[in-house]
Amino acid sequence: MPALPISRLHRLYNVVSLLGVKLLSGVALMRVDDVEADLSKLASEVARKYRRVRSVIAYSGVKGPYRLPASRHVWGEPPQDLIHREYGVEFMVDPLRVMFCLGNSFERLRTAMLTRDWETVVDLFAGVGQFSVPIAVHARPKKVYAIEINEEAYSYLVRNVNINRVSDVVQPLLGDCRGVVERGLRRVADRVIMGYFFGTIDYLPAGLSCLRREGGVIHFHEVIRKGSLNELESELIRECGSLGYRSEVINSRIVKSYSSSREHAVVDLLALPEVPD
Ligand SMILES: C[S@@+](CC[C@H](N)C(=O)[O-])C[C@H]1O[C@@H](n2cnc3c(N)ncnc32)[C@H](O)[C@@H]1O
Repeated sequence: MPALPISRLHRLYNVVSLLGVKLLSGVALMRVDDVEADLSKLASEVARKYRRVRSVIAYSGVKGPYRLPASRHVWGEPPQDLIHREYGVEFMVDPLRVMFCLGNSFERLRTAMLTRDWETVVDLFAGVGQFSVPIAVHARPKKVYAIEINEEAYSYLVRNVNINRVSDVVQPLLGDCRGVVERGLRRVADRVIMGYFFGTIDYLPAGLSCLRREGGVIHFHEVIRKGSLNELESELIRECGSLGYRSEVINSRIVKSYSSSREHAVVDLLALPEVPD
């Protein structure tokens, strides 16, 4: 466990984010509306302003259930297999091919700091290991099952597990989390990470079924209307009830702003099956 308090670590490692441009290991990520527009002048301007930048990428967000980046390389060396360092974890990422959100860095650390070394964790939407790898590095739990459906993201997940030397803790699993859980991860977890957007609730039955008979914690992520966190909490408690689980919100927070009217929220839910199966 890091010796510094979380707030101090957060300030020390926070990423640079200026004027709509984020810097990721020498690559400037430039937020635009249309990545296909002629952006060469704007890109040269960004490169002139940020001297250490080796390449500039334009991006307009992520698309579809695999959350693939809508992005294009517009200036400098083509960026490949960048190493992004965050709170003592190294992530190999390619911003042209896989989703990696810099704005979630504190949430990644927070989740890792909550995990205990005796726990088994299931990460239903593992991506490139955004949650699984920091949990393994900082908390060294008994096991982390990291499930990812997209082969490209899965290949980065495997690499990130290896470069952070946590292959004894993290088991990457390729496939749809619902099928993977059904085939062998029922009633194994003390903690379940549900880091997904736009329909996370559809996966709640799978998330709950991972929890041990004694119950456990679910970190439920969703994009919500600004100011509607209470509604999400109530919806989750209701839904858990209808699925046969008693539940209680132990924490909730806004992770980041998502757009002018929406925000990324996380609810930490303690859930317990009413009738152990
Ligand atoms: C928004 S990314 C988030 C990654 C990480 N959990 C985070 O919060 O930073 C969601 C990931 O879930 C994966 N995914 C989507 N549907 C899935 C499913 N049914 N089973 C497993 N993974 C899935 C996508 O391919 C993508 O990599």
